[in-house]
Amino acid sequence: MRSLIDILDLSVEELYEMIDTANDMIENPAKYAEACKGKKLATLFFEPSTRTRLSFEAAMLDLGGSVLGFSEAGSSSASKGESVADTAKIVSGYADIIAMRHPKAGAPLVAANNASIPVINAGDGGHFHPTQTLTDLLTISREKGRLHDLTVGFCGDLKYGRTVHSLIAALSRYTGIKIVLISPAELAIPDYVKEDVLDKEHMAYTETVDLEAALPELDILYMTRIQRERFADMDEYERLKDSYVLNVEKLEKAKSDMAILHPLPRVNEISVAVDNDPRACYFKQARNGKFIRMALILKLLSDDSLNTAVSQLPSEVSHLRCHNPGCITSCEQELAHCYRSMDGVNRCVYCDSEVK
Ligand code: NCD
Repeated sequence: MRSLIDILDLSVEELYEMIDTANDMIENPAKYAEACKGKKLATLFFEPSTRTRLSFEAAMLDLGGSVLGFSEAGSSSASKGESVADTAKIVSGYADIIAMRHPKAGAPLVAANNASIPVINAGDGGHFHPTQTLTDLLTISREKGRLHDLTVGFCGDLKYGRTVHSLIAALSRYTGIKIVLISPAELAIPDYVKEDVLDKEHMAYTETVDLEAALPELDILYMTRIQRERFADMDEYERLKDSYVLNVEKLEKAKSDMAILHPLPRVNEISVAVDNDPRACYFKQARNGKFIRMALILKLLSDDSLNTAVSQLPSEVSHLRCHNPGCITSCEQELAHCYRSMDGVNRCVYCDSEVK
């Protein structure tokens, strides 16, 4: 049994296979109409979502399976104080696979360690979002014909934008990738992405605040929303919310075949007039999301290997405490704190922030 918590849980070969399967699903949907007949997907969404949850549900329905679940924490037993671990054990008796979204980083890992069915991380706080990355990779491969030799600009909220963290990790495994990080200093990429991915994998990257100056060299522009719900200080959000707005005029500086991606929802960071530009790929990207999630569900349900999520946890429980208020350890008192060490830095296994 396998879970998908971090995009790096899938090998490069597996990603190519899944992209092939998704492309085949787009061409020949009828072939897969009964592929998961009799199987149930539980969507446990402790945080609001429209497209991710609906695309998971549509994916399972198009595979001939059925779906059950909840779409907000208030309608689950979490509101009564139930732990993620207990929820995962209970749901294992009712469904064949779980897709979980949670406001706290690491919650899907806790679920995977307690469930007896595969768990898919459908977004954990400001941490990771591997199935959006699958969607992004399928879109890049369909639009550009390759996943290597690309200059990719990430613009907006790189601090809290979990889709950015997962996509950078995924891109670290292809050759000829150049990353351009475009954000205000307050919303710069977290240290764990810099140290564990960009620096460790010797990726070529630059940082700038200037979108217009960066535009001409980009093959892909990945725009993101400023993540209002993750700000502790609303004055800071108000100050930063309009940092970047991509419009038709700015796009004149970009390559004629640059692909514009956005995980959506859009607030105001891409003006609506840009939607008519042939470079705008974000609605196609959302559609691709259903097909790659179909490929993922099919893959995890047909995999009979051991539970891999458990092996990600070091056996030794930490004497160090994680103090990140966005980590699942901050709200589940009985959860053992665990860390992994890399180059003398200790990082929480659930949220990747440094523990001291
Ligand atoms: C993203 C998310 O949830 O992180 N949306 C999505 O999955 N489609 C991006 C966002 O909310 O800004």
